[in-house]
Amino acid sequence: MKPYVYLTKTVPKEVQELIEESCTLGMWEGKEPISKEALYENVKEAEGLITSGISINKELLEHAPRLKVVSNYSVGYDNFDIDEMAKRNIIGTHTPFTLDDTVADLAFALILSSARRISELDRYIRKGKWHEKDAKEIFGSDVHHQTLGIIGMGRIGEAVAKRAKFGFDMEVIYHNRNRKPEAEKTYGVSYQSLDDLLASSDFVLMITPLTDETYHMIGKEEFKKMKSTAHFINVSRGNTVDEDALIEALTNGTIAGAGLDVFQKEPINEDNPLLQLENVTLAPHIGSATEIVRLNMFKQAAKNTIEVVHGRKAPNPVKELKDI
Ligand code: 8YV
Repeated sequence: MKPYVYLTKTVPKEVQELIEESCTLGMWEGKEPISKEALYENVKEAEGLITSGISINKELLEHAPRLKVVSNYSVGYDNFDIDEMAKRNIIGTHTPFTLDDTVADLAFALILSSARRISELDRYIRKGKWHEKDAKEIFGSDVHHQTLGIIGMGRIGEAVAKRAKFGFDMEVIYHNRNRKPEAEKTYGVSYQSLDDLLASSDFVLMITPLTDETYHMIGKEEFKKMKSTAHFINVSRGNTVDEDALIEALTNGTIAGAGLDVFQKEPINEDNPLLQLENVTLAPHIGSATEIVRLNMFKQAAKNTIEVVHGRKAPNPVKELKDI
């Protein structure tokens, strides 16, 4: 009998066919995200689960006694309860490499939009305000030759550093758990303590995984250390920053602006004060959202699942679960 694999999202035919070559496939076809009840019902027989963002916790795992692998179609895996998965010998996989340049492009889009006030001025034009504005009121700030501080120098951080250094002649500094001598040599980036990075950056970019250590890593005290002309960009996870502190910093002028792809709650609540702030560019978690990259992420997640349900090694296990 073919192993049963469940997908919590409808994926392109090509990906479905790839899975169906050697597995039986079940797939959530609703427009709305899958409900807890439907998920629990569908994972009963599953040996492989392909998903993203859904919390893989004890309760879910208790409904999935046959599960061998959970394959995220995302590079982040903060949705995994690593201990619970390890206890049950369930492998977790993700999709590194595929999306690095695409997320780096989005980070740069947010840097540019925040500095040059693109989304804010787009709203001005649409409201018919162009003629009311004094030219001076629409000035932004430069990106080229400014200082970019990257928090989290992994593959995506390096892809951003490359763009900043060689495309925009920026001074690039970084903060990371470990120093990255290779990146320092290749991209001419220099390591700084978090406090020094915050104090000297014109743009602070968060691109660190969400872990216990990085939860609310940037809060009220950290915003106070930043320049009042600085912009804060987040393409990691909403919870690496204290969103209330960010809103306060943007409202009272502690920092100049922000470009955000991620939020504490997604989708964002309708009454989130960020929606009222002009000095913020908002994106609905689209870091990896291009047609080709999403297709490749789905294929990568499918291959990770197929290998494990057939008793082979997954190509991209997360490091904490790779020895299961
Ligand atoms: C999303 C991401 O997971 O890869 C990540 O960690 O944040 C994104 O690629 C993607 O939007 C799928 O939900």
